[in-house]
Amino acid sequence: MQKIVALLALLATLPFHAFCADAAYKQVLISTGTNFVRVRLPLTDVTGKVRVKEKSADGFGIPIAPSKTVLGKKHFLEWQIGYDTPNVNDPTVVKKIMFTRKGETKYGHELSRIIFESVRLGLLSTNDILAEIKVLENIPATEFEESQPVSVDTETNNSSGGFQRAVQRVPQFTKTSPHGSVQIQLKQKQRAVGYQAMVYVCLPLTEILTLDGEPRKAGRAKTKETVYYDFTNENAGLLRDILRAFGLASAQHNEDMRTILKLVLEHAAD
Ligand code: ADE
Repeated sequence: MQKIVALLALLATLPFHAFCADAAYKQVLISTGTNFVRVRLPLTDVTGKVRVKEKSADGFGIPIAPSKTVLGKKHFLEWQIGYDTPNVNDPTVVKKIMFTRKGETKYGHELSRIIFESVRLGLLSTNDILAEIKVLENIPATEFEESQPVSVDTETNNSSGGFQRAVQRVPQFTKTSPHGSVQIQLKQKQRAVGYQAMVYVCLPLTEILTLDGEPRKAGRAKTKETVYYDFTNENAGLLRDILRAFGLASAQHNEDMRTILKLVLEHAAD
């Protein structure tokens, strides 16, 4: 009887363990070497913040099933990179980057951590950061992508079977470099009217590494496969592009970036 109770208790905890294992798999992790900042990303989290897409002419890319597709030159990872979290225990948090937004305490994570470590390692200089703060301060309010118009053309005399045709034009902004690109996409707000600017980092599969730091060979994704991307001296320009994208995205993102960069300058030499 005791054994049955113990077994039932164990079975009851299985969904919890499965949930934890899944959360751990989806977690972006950041580590450093002597001259690189290494990011670990999940390859098969198709509904999450990191998705595999096939390149398309419109630049948006087409989502694909990574375990059913040979991933190679035609593919890229689209990462909705974050920069802050209310969770002080997040694995990529930098506790020294702490600020308040609308009364809530935030800690730098993901992008903030990458920038913090890059300044410590010298991939970005303090002058780079100072120069970026200056550029972000001088972006006029009219330039923010979030306020760029989305237009709808409605055709009054061209209805088909009673269905009226309307065409929506949504702007998208892309900065491409040899090692990856950054995109600002306008997305309809989930629980409000209007659009919000989302920033995505696009990493070509050809730049993606395995745990040993070697290029990942073309092939289907294995179950729960994680992959790596190194920020180095060679591709530090991509980091500046990401900062600039957030600075251009909206007034709030611009303010957050300047706050974070100032805290990086204050603490990177601690
Ligand atoms: N806030 C934090 N990360 C973001 C992202 N990638 N795009 C838009 N807003 C964000």
